[in-house]
Amino acid sequence: MNDSVLDTIGSPLVQVYSPPGSTIAAKLESKNPAGSAKDRPALWMVEQAEREGVLSPDDRIVEPTSGNTGIGLALVAATKGYDLTIVMPSSKSPERRQIMRAYGADIDLVDGEISDAKNRADSLAQEGMVQLHQFENPANTEAHYRTTGPEILQQVGDRSIDALVAGVGTGGTISGVGRRLREAFPEMEIVAVEPEANAVLSTGESGEDAFQGMGPGFVSDNLELDLLDSVETVSIDAAEAECRRLAREEGLLVGQSSGASNVAARRVAARLATPELNCPPTPGTVAPNTDATAQADGGPNETHGEYDDCPLVVTVFPDSGERYMSTGMFDADVDA
Ligand SMILES: Cc1ncc(COP(=O)(O)O)c(C=O)c1O
Repeated sequence: MNDSVLDTIGSPLVQVYSPPGSTIAAKLESKNPAGSAKDRPALWMVEQAEREGVLSPDDRIVEPTSGNTGIGLALVAATKGYDLTIVMPSSKSPERRQIMRAYGADIDLVDGEISDAKNRADSLAQEGMVQLHQFENPANTEAHYRTTGPEILQQVGDRSIDALVAGVGTGGTISGVGRRLREAFPEMEIVAVEPEANAVLSTGESGEDAFQGMGPGFVSDNLELDLLDSVETVSIDAAEAECRRLAREEGLLVGQSSGASNVAARRVAARLATPELNCPPTPGTVAPNTDATAQADGGPNETHGEYDDCPLVVTVFPDSGERYMSTGMFDADVDA
């Protein structure tokens, strides 16, 4: 039995369909208690502020967020008894607002993008609220360095990781996980994913995109650029089509940035693949030449040794498709 819901933060790492000769594994962050990767930084930023004495029981927390950080903070604030105001762009999905309100948070909607929400939160902080500054706060990255990264290392066991592919918002996930994994695997590639229509990292130009959570339109202080080997851009249409495929073919209901991350992970895996290796291409299957006789002869162990050599790409699925129902992206009449 856990003392607190906050002790249940953590997520599984699950193999997804991979190009022949490779393995892709996805960290299913929707399994965290408030349903996204942001439960981790929310807890770490609040506890860091408590330790530094900038946050005390009667304070009200304020944070600009496109949603998931707000939901994570709403969970932490409810658990620890803080008041919370979330400033968010009105364009983001209503599910997010409803969830934050359900946890007892107040919502302040602004027109425009996340940069407009940041300006509004800055003025509320000047009036006395405590802002956690997820784009600059090192505790955001530290949460992933101390929790997500070590969980992945433990979950891959003896296997080496060849690449990490992750979407970028604040940069906390890719920087924290990337820094920890690269300590273990110095040759590992780190590949950032951003919206094709708002490809600030690739082009230096911001633009308008329909992704929620990924692609803030500027380079966040928490993004450790020197960790990145390359950047992949993915269109919203390709990402949403991949979300539908993941749901219908693999039983994984995930959000837009997860779909984009998997599109990019498959590109990276196809590039790193060693087709002559006997890697199971789809989850739950055995490699083609692993027949019953081979298994009876102790084949699985031997074959498993072969799987271990398959290039391994780890990606992160930050949240669930349930947070995107109102966008219509899963409607039955939308083609795969
Ligand atoms: C759905 C979603 N995907 C990706 C990200 C990007 O994660 P990070 O801020 O750690 O870069 C976020 C961040 O809020 C998110 O909510």
